[in-house]
Amino acid sequence: MTGLYPFNGIVPQVAASAFIAPGARVIGDVQIGEDSSIWYNCVLRGDVETIQVGARSNIQDGSVVHVTTRRWKTEIHDDVLIGHLAMIHGCIIESHGFIGLGAIVMDGCVVERGGMLAAGAMLTPGKRIASGELWAGRPAKLLRTLSEEEVLRNRAASAGYVELAKRHRESLAG
Ligand SMILES: CC(C)(COP(=O)(O)OP(=O)(O)OC[C@H]1O[C@@H](n2cnc3c(N)ncnc32)[C@H](O)[C@@H]1OP(=O)(O)O)[C@@H](O)C(=O)NCCC(=O)NCCS
Repeated sequence: MTGLYPFNGIVPQVAASAFIAPGARVIGDVQIGEDSSIWYNCVLRGDVETIQVGARSNIQDGSVVHVTTRRWKTEIHDDVLIGHLAMIHGCIIESHGFIGLGAIVMDGCVVERGGMLAAGAMLTPGKRIASGELWAGRPAKLLRTLSEEEVLRNRAASAGYVELAKRHRESLAG
Protein backbone atom coordinates (compact mmCIF):
# COMPACT_ATOMS: atom_id res chain seq x y z
CA MET A 1 0.00 0.00 0.00
CA THR A 2 1.40 3.39 -0.92
CA GLY A 3 1.56 6.36 1.43
CA LEU A 4 2.75 4.38 4.45
CA TYR A 5 6.07 5.37 6.01
CA PRO A 6 7.99 3.88 8.97
CA PHE A 7 9.22 6.01 11.85
CA ASN A 8 11.63 4.75 14.51
CA GLY A 9 11.22 1.24 13.12
CA ILE A 10 7.42 1.27 13.45
CA VAL A 11 5.32 0.78 10.34
CA PRO A 12 1.64 1.84 10.18
CA GLN A 13 -0.85 -1.03 10.58
CA VAL A 14 -3.67 -0.70 8.10
CA ALA A 15 -6.60 -3.12 7.76
CA ALA A 16 -6.85 -4.76 4.34
CA SER A 17 -10.25 -3.17 3.64
CA ALA A 18 -9.16 0.38 4.58
CA PHE A 19 -8.65 2.94 1.81
CA ILE A 20 -5.60 5.18 1.77
CA ALA A 21 -6.05 7.65 -1.10
CA PRO A 22 -3.18 8.79 -3.28
CA GLY A 23 -1.27 11.68 -1.75
CA ALA A 24 -2.14 10.70 1.81
CA ARG A 25 0.79 10.07 4.13
CA VAL A 26 0.54 7.80 7.15
CA ILE A 27 3.65 7.75 9.28
CA GLY A 28 4.86 5.61 12.18
CA ASP A 29 2.72 4.26 15.01
CA VAL A 30 -0.69 4.51 13.37
CA GLN A 31 -3.42 1.87 13.31
CA ILE A 32 -6.33 2.06 10.89
CA GLY A 33 -9.32 -0.29 11.16
CA GLU A 34 -11.54 -2.09 8.68
CA ASP A 35 -13.37 -0.01 6.04
CA SER A 36 -11.93 3.27 7.25
CA SER A 37 -10.80 5.80 4.66
CA ILE A 38 -8.01 8.34 4.65
CA TRP A 39 -8.64 10.74 1.78
CA TYR A 40 -6.42 12.58 -0.67
CA ASN A 41 -3.54 14.53 0.86
CA CYS A 42 -4.19 13.77 4.50
CA VAL A 43 -1.27 13.46 6.92
CA LEU A 44 -1.45 11.14 9.95
CA ARG A 45 1.87 11.44 11.79
CA GLY A 46 2.30 8.96 14.64
CA ASP A 47 5.83 9.82 15.64
CA VAL A 48 5.92 11.07 19.26
CA GLU A 49 2.73 9.25 20.34
CA THR A 50 0.25 6.85 18.79
CA ILE A 51 -2.73 7.36 16.49
CA GLN A 52 -5.59 4.86 16.40
CA VAL A 53 -8.42 4.95 13.91
CA GLY A 54 -11.23 2.42 14.39
CA ALA A 55 -13.54 0.86 11.83
CA ARG A 56 -15.60 2.67 9.14
CA SER A 57 -14.25 6.10 10.01
CA ASN A 58 -13.32 8.65 7.37
CA ILE A 59 -10.75 11.42 7.48
CA GLN A 60 -11.41 13.68 4.54
CA ASP A 61 -9.08 15.40 2.12
CA GLY A 62 -6.26 17.55 3.41
CA SER A 63 -6.84 16.84 7.10
CA VAL A 64 -3.94 16.52 9.53
CA VAL A 65 -3.84 14.20 12.54
CA HIS A 66 -1.02 14.51 15.04
CA VAL A 67 -0.13 13.91 18.71
CA THR A 68 1.86 15.50 21.53
CA THR A 69 5.13 14.08 22.81
CA ARG A 70 4.47 11.43 25.51
CA ARG A 71 1.34 13.30 26.55
CA TRP A 72 -1.55 13.13 24.13
CA LYS A 73 -2.17 10.30 21.73
CA THR A 74 -5.03 10.57 19.26
CA GLU A 75 -7.91 8.11 19.15
CA ILE A 76 -10.56 8.20 16.46
CA HIS A 77 -13.07 5.49 17.23
CA ASP A 78 -15.61 3.79 14.93
CA ASP A 79 -17.92 5.46 12.34
CA VAL A 80 -16.39 8.90 12.86
CA LEU A 81 -16.60 11.56 10.16
CA ILE A 82 -13.83 14.14 9.93
CA GLY A 83 -14.49 16.79 7.27
CA HIS A 84 -12.04 18.24 4.76
CA LEU A 85 -9.07 20.26 6.06
CA ALA A 86 -9.61 19.45 9.72
CA MET A 87 -6.77 19.56 12.29
CA ILE A 88 -7.04 16.79 14.87
CA HIS A 89 -4.37 17.07 17.56
CA GLY A 90 -3.85 14.87 20.64
CA CYS A 91 -7.50 14.15 21.33
CA ILE A 92 -10.21 11.50 21.41
CA ILE A 93 -13.14 11.38 19.00
CA GLU A 94 -15.55 8.70 20.13
CA SER A 95 -17.75 6.60 17.84
CA HIS A 96 -20.13 8.48 15.51
CA GLY A 97 -18.41 11.76 16.33
CA PHE A 98 -18.65 14.40 13.57
CA ILE A 99 -15.95 17.00 13.01
CA GLY A 100 -16.95 19.68 10.52
CA LEU A 101 -14.79 20.78 7.64
CA GLY A 102 -11.91 23.07 8.57
CA ALA A 103 -12.41 22.49 12.30
CA ILE A 104 -9.58 22.27 14.84
CA VAL A 105 -9.56 19.92 17.82
CA MET A 106 -6.73 20.64 20.26
CA ASP A 107 -4.86 18.64 22.92
CA GLY A 108 -6.78 16.75 25.57
CA CYS A 109 -10.20 17.31 24.01
CA VAL A 110 -12.83 14.59 23.96
CA VAL A 111 -15.76 14.45 21.58
CA GLU A 112 -18.09 11.95 23.17
CA ARG A 113 -20.14 9.45 21.18
CA GLY A 114 -22.16 11.21 18.49
CA GLY A 115 -20.98 14.69 19.47
CA MET A 116 -20.55 17.28 16.70
CA LEU A 117 -18.11 20.12 16.12
CA ALA A 118 -19.37 22.57 13.48
CA ALA A 119 -17.48 23.54 10.35
CA GLY A 120 -14.69 26.03 11.01
CA ALA A 121 -14.81 25.65 14.81
CA MET A 122 -11.82 25.56 17.15
CA LEU A 123 -12.19 23.31 20.19
CA THR A 124 -9.62 24.61 22.67
CA PRO A 125 -7.45 22.35 24.90
CA GLY A 126 -9.20 19.99 27.29
CA LYS A 127 -12.75 20.78 26.22
CA ARG A 128 -15.33 18.00 26.14
CA ILE A 129 -18.29 17.79 23.77
CA ALA A 130 -20.91 15.60 25.41
CA SER A 131 -22.85 13.00 23.49
CA GLY A 132 -25.45 14.64 21.25
CA GLU A 133 -24.13 18.19 21.62
CA LEU A 134 -23.26 20.60 18.77
CA TRP A 135 -20.43 23.07 19.45
CA ALA A 136 -19.45 25.88 17.08
CA GLY A 137 -17.26 28.98 16.76
CA ARG A 138 -13.70 30.02 17.61
CA PRO A 139 -13.31 29.30 20.48
CA ALA A 140 -16.03 26.69 20.23
CA LYS A 141 -18.98 26.88 22.60
CA LEU A 142 -22.07 24.75 23.03
CA LEU A 143 -24.55 25.86 20.36
CA ARG A 144 -27.37 23.39 21.05
CA THR A 145 -28.18 19.71 21.15
CA LEU A 146 -28.55 17.80 17.91
CA SER A 147 -31.98 16.82 16.68
CA GLU A 148 -32.78 13.18 16.06
CA GLU A 149 -32.82 13.99 12.33
CA GLU A 150 -29.30 15.45 12.49
CA VAL A 151 -28.01 12.44 14.40
CA LEU A 152 -29.37 10.18 11.67
CA ARG A 153 -28.02 12.45 8.93
CA ASN A 154 -24.54 12.45 10.46
CA ARG A 155 -24.61 8.67 10.72
CA ALA A 156 -25.73 8.37 7.10
CA ALA A 157 -22.93 10.70 5.97
CA SER A 158 -20.37 8.54 7.70
CA ALA A 159 -21.81 5.33 6.27
CA GLY A 160 -21.87 6.94 2.82
CA TYR A 161 -18.14 7.43 3.00
CA VAL A 162 -17.58 3.69 3.46
CA GLU A 163 -19.31 3.13 0.13
CA LEU A 164 -17.64 6.08 -1.56
CA ALA A 165 -14.21 4.78 -0.51
CA LYS A 166 -14.96 1.43 -2.13
CA ARG A 167 -15.82 3.18 -5.40
CA HIS A 168 -12.62 5.23 -5.36
CA ARG A 169 -10.60 2.14 -4.57
CA GLU A 170 -12.15 0.26 -7.50
CA SER A 171 -11.71 3.19 -9.89
CA LEU A 172 -8.05 3.57 -8.98
CA ALA A 173 -7.49 -0.16 -9.43
CA GLY A 174 -8.66 0.35 -13.02
C1 LIG B 1 -23.48 24.04 12.37
C2 LIG B 1 -24.21 23.61 11.12
C3 LIG B 1 -24.73 22.17 11.29
C4 LIG B 1 -25.36 24.54 10.82
O1 LIG B 1 -26.27 24.53 11.93
P1 LIG B 1 -27.69 25.25 11.79
O2 LIG B 1 -28.32 25.27 13.13
O3 LIG B 1 -28.43 24.58 10.68
O4 LIG B 1 -27.26 26.70 11.39
P2 LIG B 1 -28.07 27.76 10.49
O5 LIG B 1 -27.54 27.66 9.10
O6 LIG B 1 -29.55 27.60 10.69
O7 LIG B 1 -27.61 29.11 11.14
C5 LIG B 1 -27.95 29.47 12.47
C6 LIG B 1 -26.93 30.45 13.00
O8 LIG B 1 -25.71 29.74 13.26
C7 LIG B 1 -24.65 30.32 12.47
N1 LIG B 1 -23.81 29.21 12.00
C8 LIG B 1 -24.15 28.27 11.09
N2 LIG B 1 -23.14 27.44 10.90
C9 LIG B 1 -22.14 27.85 11.72
C10 LIG B 1 -20.82 27.40 11.96
N3 LIG B 1 -20.34 26.32 11.30
N4 LIG B 1 -20.07 28.05 12.85
C11 LIG B 1 -20.56 29.15 13.51
N5 LIG B 1 -21.79 29.63 13.34
C12 LIG B 1 -22.57 28.98 12.43
C13 LIG B 1 -25.33 31.06 11.34
O9 LIG B 1 -24.53 32.10 10.84
C14 LIG B 1 -26.58 31.55 12.00
O10 LIG B 1 -26.25 32.69 12.78
P3 LIG B 1 -27.31 33.91 12.92
O11 LIG B 1 -28.50 33.31 13.59
O12 LIG B 1 -26.57 34.90 13.75
O13 LIG B 1 -27.60 34.35 11.52
C15 LIG B 1 -23.30 23.70 9.86
O14 LIG B 1 -22.75 24.99 9.73
C16 LIG B 1 -22.14 22.74 9.91
O15 LIG B 1 -21.13 22.97 10.53
N6 LIG B 1 -22.28 21.60 9.18
C17 LIG B 1 -21.20 20.64 9.04
C18 LIG B 1 -20.90 20.40 7.57
C19 LIG B 1 -19.58 19.70 7.40
O16 LIG B 1 -18.58 20.16 7.88
N7 LIG B 1 -19.58 18.55 6.72
C20 LIG B 1 -18.34 17.76 6.59
C21 LIG B 1 -17.97 17.54 5.16
S1 LIG B 1 -18.93 16.21 4.44
